[in-house]
Amino acid sequence: MPTETPASPQVPAPTGAENTPAPGTPGAAPTEPVLSVRGLEVDYPVRGRARRGPRHVRAVAGVDLDVYEGETLGLVGESGCGKTTLGSSIMRARPEASGRIRYRAADGRVLEALDLSGDDTTTYQREVRMVFQDPQSSLNPRMTLRDIVGEPLRMLLGLRGDALEARVREVMERVGLHTSHLRRYPHAFSGGQRQRAAIARALVPGPRLVVADEAVSALDTSVRSQILNLLQDLQGDLGLTYLFVSHDLSVVEHVCDRVAVMYLGRIVEVAPTDDLFARPLHPYTEALISAVPIPDPRLRGTRERIRLTGEVPDPSRPPTGCAFHPRCRYATDLCATEVPAPREAAPGRTVACHHAEELDLAGITERTVPGTTSTNPPARATREPPTKQE
Ligand SMILES: Nc1ncnc2c1ncn2[C@@H]1O[C@H](COP(=O)(O)OP(=O)(O)O)[C@@H](O)[C@H]1O
Ligand code: SF4
Ligand SMILES: [Mg+2]
Repeated sequence: MPTETPASPQVPAPTGAENTPAPGTPGAAPTEPVLSVRGLEVDYPVRGRARRGPRHVRAVAGVDLDVYEGETLGLVGESGCGKTTLGSSIMRARPEASGRIRYRAADGRVLEALDLSGDDTTTYQREVRMVFQDPQSSLNPRMTLRDIVGEPLRMLLGLRGDALEARVREVMERVGLHTSHLRRYPHAFSGGQRQRAAIARALVPGPRLVVADEAVSALDTSVRSQILNLLQDLQGDLGLTYLFVSHDLSVVEHVCDRVAVMYLGRIVEVAPTDDLFARPLHPYTEALISAVPIPDPRLRGTRERIRLTGEVPDPSRPPTGCAFHPRCRYATDLCATEVPAPREAAPGRTVACHHAEELDLAGITERTVPGTTSTNPPARATREPPTKQE
């Protein structure tokens, strides 16, 4: 197994990427969002169904979401709720998407991501990048690491020759990959090293916003902490903004400043991470949080696990009213008929539930560190040392 070099702090921050504190960060002043999603809808055509059945799946059903510069915004929800579709719409990979996605570029201009052309497309592709869950399939097995990491430089910045090679080497070292591996193919690397290569490919043109879709979900626990630490270090050094998509709330709790909870194509709650976990306002959030494992054996059994009854509904036939009502223990007649609109329930907190103010939902106060048996760790900025090398 090839060994890795320690990460080097050499990569300069991309232009205009000051690390402005996000809402929810203690002492933060509200800032303009770097990305604003409004009324986003994505319908996938349904094939092979009975002729009179629904013709489409509404994977994203009218999402509004703001991402602030320098923050890590978590996007959570069960499998199939539309997280990847939302992330890939931001990456302009969903031609079915309608609505608006506005991005404030490094030069201050506001770009409409779903309606780009010419140089604006290149600017967007350079500044907004994605890291996928499975580097095995996202990295071309027939390309060397040099070509994989160098391709965005050729395509987006027109770099060639020594300039390209120098930048590739710089970024590889920054993500902890040895430059002697430049001519190797992805299959020669461990899962963690492949994910570092995927991060290098995202990083190489100097992005400001990175959409990480289940970026650590396929990794072993110890490798996962190393990649999370790398992502946090890169954010601190380069002033990156992350949209961190995950189904794993214990990871989200550890790395995110704010969290958006998604259910059946809609955002049902947005809050600063600490507030969301301590006192959820939406019953779906309460149920998700109740399933987060308690690492400390002394505390196990002190918290009720809310078992969600029934399956996630078929998005091509969503329930009437609140889409969560068939599974909600607090549902009333109103919930079955009227869709709850998202509203501000407290400063910095948005919820879409008819009864949010009346409910007193359970959160968790003990904090968890993913992959350990510790509780109540220090603040998110400090981290555990890696437990073993990849
Ligand atoms: N290419 C596609 N064609 C048809 N339906 C899709 C496609 N991709 C996703 N879906 C459906 O859209 C919904 C949302 O999927 P996805 O965005 O992948 O959710 P998540 O990432 O939260 O698991 C699911 O019902 C899924 O089956
Ligand atoms: S609106 Fe009603 S069904 Fe929906 S989450 Fe709130 S209480 Fe439950
Ligand atoms: Mg997904």
